[in-house]
Formats: sequence, structure tokens, C-alpha cells
Amino acid sequence: MTAAIVVEELEVVFDRFRALKGVSLEVREGESYGLVGESGSGKSTLLRAITGLAPVASGAITVNGKKLGKSRDKAFYREVQMVFQDPYGSLHPRQTVDRLLQEPLAIHGIADGEKRIERALDEVGLGKGFRFRYAHQLSGGQRQRVAIARALILEPSILLLDEPTSALDASVQAEVLNLLEEVRRRRKLTFLMVSHDLAIVTHMCERLMVMQNGEAVETLTASQLIGHRVNADYTRNLLRASEGFVRV
Ligand SMILES: Nc1ncnc2c1ncn2[C@@H]1O[C@H](COP(=O)(O)OP(=O)(O)OP(=O)(O)O)[C@@H](O)[C@H]1O
Ligand SMILES: [Mg+2]
Repeated sequence: MTAAIVVEELEVVFDRFRALKGVSLEVREGESYGLVGESGSGKSTLLRAITGLAPVASGAITVNGKKLGKSRDKAFYREVQMVFQDPYGSLHPRQTVDRLLQEPLAIHGIADGEKRIERALDEVGLGKGFRFRYAHQLSGGQRQRVAIARALILEPSILLLDEPTSALDASVQAEVLNLLEEVRRRRKLTFLMVSHDLAIVTHMCERLMVMQNGEAVETLTASQLIGHRVNADYTRNLLRASEGFVRV
């Protein structure tokens, strides 16, 4: 099985603060992999380091067999796209859905834009009717669907998802999670997904890494976490803290 993402001994340092202290992980092609851990443990920093948005001090990142340098080229963004937590912050409110979807196509000089826009809007359950609506006219869930469509428009193989539904109401959250699952299956995508919600992670991900203070605590399968078959006290405390997390 090929690895989609390999992270080796990654160190990220902001000024003098070590946000990641030698983190390693491997995400297989087509896998859905979760990152959990308390606030400030370095989950977002790990995703940001992969997309070139965090200062990597040492270590290596390999994506689809290609070792990444300091900067990311256009080819990288055709393979890897990120979806952020806040659909309000990540989409310009005064732009139409069409414009938001056109932008990446224009940057990458893609010709069959029309088809891709229609496909992406259908795929995220919005349809053509939303094409000329403004982002500020959409609900949070609809915005996040647009953000997902925008991430899909370049037909990447990997999505990095940073708490993609935590800003949404519970019912909308479930809809968007189902949508992500469908999209992953249909497009055979690899997911690396951050969530503080253990129920979501075990539902969405096959394996996961537990992080604390910029370090990996342990790597588990979803069924190990569901069955509370964990090694670290830290993970046990996370389980305890996530009230209502059902033991199966
Ligand atoms: N741009 C930055 N400059 C300085 N410190 C930063 C920066 N970004 C993150 N940090 C620090 O790095 C640590 C890890 O932050 P990160 O955002 O990765 O945590 P997280 O696990 O995603 O937390 P949360 O669950 O709250 O989103 C934190 O202590 C944070 O303050
Ligand atoms: Mg975060």
C-alpha cells in the first residue's frame, strides 16, 4: 500500500516556541486518518506545515511519493487541498459562489471550468441554483458545502480537514460529515482530519493519532479507541472527558 502522506520527525518552531517536537505519521492512500488532542497540542500546526503555512525547522514531509521543499508549487495544490473550520472566515462574503469556484480554476489555467463547477455544486448537494448567490447569503452549512466544492474543484487526491464541522449546528454537522464521507468514497480521496470530537473521529476515520504538547502520544485504530483499548493515560483522560462517548 502506498503512503499518501509521510511526516518524519517534524519540528515546527514559532519564534522560540516548539509547536511540533518531532512528530511522525504515515497516512495511507485512500485512508481517512484523524488527529485528536487538547487545544494547543499542535493539530492545526501539523496540517498547516503540510500546506506550507507553518515554519518547519526540521524533519521531512512526503506527499504522494514526492518530498516537499520549503515552498509549495502549483502541482502540490492540485493534489492537496485544505478545508478550514470557519466557513465565514474562509470564503469572501462579497463574492458569488461562481467567483469563489472560478478562482482556483483561473490560477491553475483549467479549461473545462463550466463542467467542473456544475459537477462540484451537484456533488456537495447545492446544485446550479446556488451558482450566482453571494457567500454572505448562505447559511453556515451551505458555506461549508461551498468550501468543500472549492477544495474539490482542482480534483485533489488529499483533503486536509481542520475541524470542518465544529462551527455548525449538530444536525447540519451530521449532513456535512455524511457529505464528506460520500465524496471520499466516490473520489477515492485520502483524508487527514482534525477533530476534538472523538465520536466524529471514530465515525469518520480508520486510524488516528493522539497529540499532546506538540508530540504524538499514540496511534490507534478507531475500533481500539471505541473499545477503550488505549495505552496512554492521556488518551484515557480524553475518553473520560468526552462525555457520552459510548463504549461498544
Ligand atoms: N502563528 C503562530 N505563532 C505563534 N504560536 C503559534 C502560532 N500558531 C500556533 N501557535 C502555537 O502553537 C501551539 C499549537 O497550536 P495549534 O493551533 O496547532 O493547536 P491545535 O491543536 O490546533 O488547537 P485547537 O484544538 O485549539 O485548534 C499553540 O500553543 C499555539 O499557541
Ligand atoms: Mg486547531
